[in-house]
Amino acid sequence: MKPVRVGLVGCGKVGQIHAAALRSLPEAEFVAACDTHPNRAASFGVRAFSNVATMLRDGGVEAVLIGTPHPLHAEAAVLAAEAGVHVLVEKPMAATVADCDAMLAAARKSGAMLGVISQRRFFEPVRRMKAAIDAGKIGRPALGVCLMYSWREPSYYTSDPWRGKWDTEGGGVLVNQSPHQLDILLWLMGPAAEVSGYWANVNHPTVEVDDTAVATVRFRNGGLGSIITSVSQKPGIYSKIHIHGTNGASLGVETDRGATFIAGVSTIAEPALNDLWTVPSEEQLLGEFQAEDRAKFREVDATVHYHALQIADFLRAIREGRPPLVTGEDGRAVVELFAAIYRSDRERRPIALSAA
Ligand SMILES: NC(=O)c1ccc[n+]([C@@H]2O[C@H](COP(=O)([O-])OP(=O)(O)OC[C@H]3O[C@@H](n4cnc5c(N)ncnc54)[C@H](O)[C@@H]3O)[C@@H](O)[C@H]2O)c1
Repeated sequence: MKPVRVGLVGCGKVGQIHAAALRSLPEAEFVAACDTHPNRAASFGVRAFSNVATMLRDGGVEAVLIGTPHPLHAEAAVLAAEAGVHVLVEKPMAATVADCDAMLAAARKSGAMLGVISQRRFFEPVRRMKAAIDAGKIGRPALGVCLMYSWREPSYYTSDPWRGKWDTEGGGVLVNQSPHQLDILLWLMGPAAEVSGYWANVNHPTVEVDDTAVATVRFRNGGLGSIITSVSQKPGIYSKIHIHGTNGASLGVETDRGATFIAGVSTIAEPALNDLWTVPSEEQLLGEFQAEDRAKFREVDATVHYHALQIADFLRAIREGRPPLVTGEDGRAVVELFAAIYRSDRERRPIALSAA
């Protein structure tokens, strides 16, 4: 296919991963980079801009990859979509549902494609679970459990001025670290209908936002779900998603071992693995799957590889005129879910989700 001319918006920590991924892909021509911070965009050796509107006008980009702090995603995404430029935006899609709706409206109006990064969907063990569910191997997904026991040092929150504050980050563990797992939970269980939740700040007294949250979900398919997500375990333990079906069979993935990685600071040190597989007559496959995934992990740089797979899917989707694997609507569903958990805590009641 003809490579898509891509520009980066935001050249900070995750921007380094984006640049490495773009350079590795035949589907991409990395042509421009934009950052308000002096020198960051210029460090990539492509045309550098300090303003998104100027890059959209003069940079010759067909698509942008946005990695600015989450409350700033919408501004750049709307400008790009209005200019007919395709948008792949980092997770979370935005900090508010209103921002997501503005992004979706701009993309629908111009016909630009809108996708949201959720690179753990591309992990082999996660795709295996999705394929098994789609093939009916567990009956209907009836119970979905999402657990994240991670850790963030107090210094993480002071590493950039926007972190850990309601105004400039929009939330804490629910908004920043959990969207990966929440997206996979929704992908495997289907849309959520209603949620009750609570949040707390357990051991980050210098930070305003949540470092821990729990929630109970009723899914549109009648299934139930449970979410525990935290960056308060020192050391971090693991992140897992388990899906149990109406036929009694269970599927599971450990997406992260220890604390979830910090872009530009730490790397993915251990492979994601299926940790549960009780599909009738397939129980013996668990060990084989784990061996395959450990072997794959030795071949690739997992910190960049899964971003690259998602960016390639998005760029191919542009050329093929089909939706990307992770759409703007999928990104919005995650934002709606975490926003409903905050609202449920505030109003002390279950919250119905709009698509329910
Ligand atoms: N998918 C993942 O695994 C992953 C990992 C890390 C971060 N992220 C996401 O990426 C986003 C950025 O996180 P980060 O850790 O790279 O933050 P960061 O602070 O390191 O980088 C953000 C960059 O955006 C720039 N910026 C701010 N306003 C801008 C504007 N208006 N125009 C252009 N550039 C602007 C900043 O100068 C900075 O260089 C967040 O939404 C975060 O959730 C995703």
